[in-house]
Amino acid sequence: MHVRKVEVDLLRAYRLLHPRNVVLVSCIDKADGANIVTLAWSMPTSVDPPLVAISVSPRRYSHRLIEETKEFVVNVPTIETAREALFCGRVSGRKHDKFKEAPLTALPAKKVQAPLIEECAAHLECKLVQKITAGDHTIFIGRVLAATVNEGVFDSKFNISKVNPIYHLGGDDFATLSAEVVTPRL
Ligand SMILES: Cc1cc2nc3c(=O)[nH]c(=O)nc-3n(C[C@H](O)[C@H](O)[C@H](O)COP(=O)(O)O)c2cc1C
Repeated sequence: MHVRKVEVDLLRAYRLLHPRNVVLVSCIDKADGANIVTLAWSMPTSVDPPLVAISVSPRRYSHRLIEETKEFVVNVPTIETAREALFCGRVSGRKHDKFKEAPLTALPAKKVQAPLIEECAAHLECKLVQKITAGDHTIFIGRVLAATVNEGVFDSKFNISKVNPIYHLGGDDFATLSAEVVTPRL
């Protein structure tokens, strides 16, 4: 018996590519105020040079900050901060101090002015190198200038029994990984 295929609304088709791992991107305004935006759309795009891409709607306050300062930090949150991740993805930095209200802790970065988020497990400090308009979002490509991770959770790959990344299903729903690692034999 074949499984029957049903149509999906084209404006919801992107959700077929979820769950996607959530990142918290920190950035600053020119007056040094820091902001955080929650993103489900991010990906590595190059190993050498190390490049990552984030897809940000021009409606976000963070879009303007990244365009102006040409830098951002991609922070990797864990399930313990799911509530803070949702908060930073539901209110705008135009009206809220998200570090204070989430609350989340700003730590100095090594190579950029934007702060790291202490509660996150890993941090990729990026300098903006390319901007691509892609429909109703902008793809910002950043060169990773420094990368740091909590001690003891990463040894060339994450130890998922020690760190539990967050995945966004859509709306207010998130998922986590089971601690089972699957290694297919070829
Ligand atoms: C789980 C989650 C994932 C999100 N992913 C994205 C994304 O990939 N790109 C985007 O532009 N907005 C995304 N958003 C929406 C922004 O985070 C949200 O509009 C935020 O309030 C913008 O903040 P800002 O105005 O301070 O920049 C997401 C929101 C949530 C809750």
